[in-house]
Amino acid sequence: MFDSLSRQIKDAKKIVFVTGAGISQESGIPTFRGKDGLWRKYDSMQLATIDAFYEDPKLVWEWYEERRTNILAAKPNAGHFAISELAKFKEVIVLTQNIDGLHQRSGSRHVLELHGSIIRIKCTVCDFKDNITTSFDSLPPKCKCGNILRPDVVWFGEGLPQDVWDEAISHAQTCDVMIIAGTSLVVSPANTLPLYAKQNGAVLIEVNPEKTVMSSEMDLSVRETSANALPKLVELVSTG
Ligand code: APR
Repeated sequence: MFDSLSRQIKDAKKIVFVTGAGISQESGIPTFRGKDGLWRKYDSMQLATIDAFYEDPKLVWEWYEERRTNILAAKPNAGHFAISELAKFKEVIVLTQNIDGLHQRSGSRHVLELHGSIIRIKCTVCDFKDNITTSFDSLPPKCKCGNILRPDVVWFGEGLPQDVWDEAISHAQTCDVMIIAGTSLVVSPANTLPLYAKQNGAVLIEVNPEKTVMSSEMDLSVRETSANALPKLVELVSTG
């Protein structure tokens, strides 16, 4: 599966993963744009934007509560565990667009959440922010200061946390191999990370059962699910 680049993978010191909803699909969390995609049922622009939130915070919260319940019940899958296992042999950084926390729950230590976290809740006004894994008995939930709370996620039209994004670029620019797993690469600026890596001579490997808009940029496209492919990567690296 990775044979054509086995030398580059074995010699790599630093491997950066860019992951998306596809890597959590085998944990039972629907992707956004795939055939089972969330956006099929809901209009993303109606729910995942700051305007939608202020227009109807209860509706947006109902959608997030449904997702939180599903995500908190989900378990990391073999793809997540393979990435945390790989960190025993290489420097591994995970740049994820996912908000489900499954990389951390599978043991990955260096995870940058580019689009925030559905588990972290913050106040829309004061500086309250905390991980909350219980469900709320009334929606939208209120902060102690009296204002409404929101998930600490990046909505369409909002910028990524600047410090997280700056660090993500520096990792993309200093890796030997970038593995892009489970993302359609249609959302910016996350989809520019492979270009930063390529500009600095990194090898690009895509793990995705389907083609993406950037497949032509890749040095290798593995048309497999991440749960199937990523354990094979650990095998390759751990056999020296
Ligand atoms: N293994 C690997 N890839 C998979 C799997 C799997 N088991 N199942 C699906 N995929 C692929 C699909 O082929 C698709 O290319 O995962 C990708 C999922 O793409 P999207 O649904 O667009 O999700 P993502 O790329 O993470 O979206 C980026 O858009 O909606 C916003 O903020 C949201 O972070 C999200 C961002």
